[in-house]
Amino acid sequence: MRLENKTAVVTGAGQGIGKGIALALAREGANVVISDINLTEATKVVREIEELGRKSLAVKTDVTSKKEVDDLIKKTMEKFGSLDIMVSNAGVSSMEYVIDMPEEKWDFNMDVNLKGTFLVTQAAAQQMIKQQNGKIICTASMAGKGGVATQAHYNASKHGVIAYVKSLAQELAPCGITVNSICPGSIKTSMQDREVQWGAEIRGAGATPEDIREEMANFTPLGRIGLPEDIAKVVVFFASDESAFMTGQAINVTGGQSNTM
Ligand SMILES: NC(=O)c1ccc[n+]([C@@H]2O[C@H](COP(=O)([O-])OP(=O)(O)OC[C@H]3O[C@@H](n4cnc5c(N)ncnc54)[C@H](O)[C@@H]3O)[C@@H](O)[C@H]2O)c1
Repeated sequence: MRLENKTAVVTGAGQGIGKGIALALAREGANVVISDINLTEATKVVREIEELGRKSLAVKTDVTSKKEVDDLIKKTMEKFGSLDIMVSNAGVSSMEYVIDMPEEKWDFNMDVNLKGTFLVTQAAAQQMIKQQNGKIICTASMAGKGGVATQAHYNASKHGVIAYVKSLAQELAPCGITVNSICPGSIKTSMQDREVQWGAEIRGAGATPEDIREEMANFTPLGRIGLPEDIAKVVVFFASDESAFMTGQAINVTGGQSNTM
């Protein structure tokens, strides 16, 4: 096992990619704090981690609240005594054209995806600097490397995450802390279920969510929609010593799909 006795925190770990990451870290020996705005789902994941023989803790956290994020780190330190791996994964999306976009939708995407990344990684870094080691991994997106109609706000937030990670990596390198981001492509989660539904509604002309999902798979050179486990494997790599000489990177995990328009 590559992460025996390490302490990891994963935000947005109640479902989807975050849950997949939390379980993969636990399978490699880590004790994992399950942080999510949805405490009910987080508590279910805690049980699954405990069934794997690891320790776990559910913490209700809204990543846009500095107070709640600071409380997450405090509770982690009280229970486990160290913070070795921080995965800043919580994120939201919505789909609307810029011309009609309500200001609140812009703020919602920016607040959760970009400000949330800042608050979570800042609080983690404050602890990791005391330890002089740590691994920070942020879930960005393929959307952080290109543009697509109806998701300007989401794409801008994810471009921001990638740029932020590059800068933070330089600040923390002298302290023995690496900071990297993962850029998933199309991954089967609740977020994607919502997006294919919206995509079909925006397209109209009888398009169905299944049509949109099939197109996503067809645009993917490896020929399928990704799974949370596909992302989790790369997060484990960044959380382990195998990635010791890597920092400030934004790695695509997209089945070969690229979004560089
Ligand atoms: N699914 C994809 O195709 C895809 C592709 C690229 C990037 N991503 C990114 O992966 C990450 C996870 O997405 P997912 O597909 O698993 O989505 P999801 O909606 O299935 O899960 C997101 C989780 O984050 C939690 N969350 C939402 N707002 C929060 C907040 N303010 N504070 C704390 N937790 C909050 C939700 O409760 C949920 O458990 C996101 O950052 C997303 O942008 C997803």
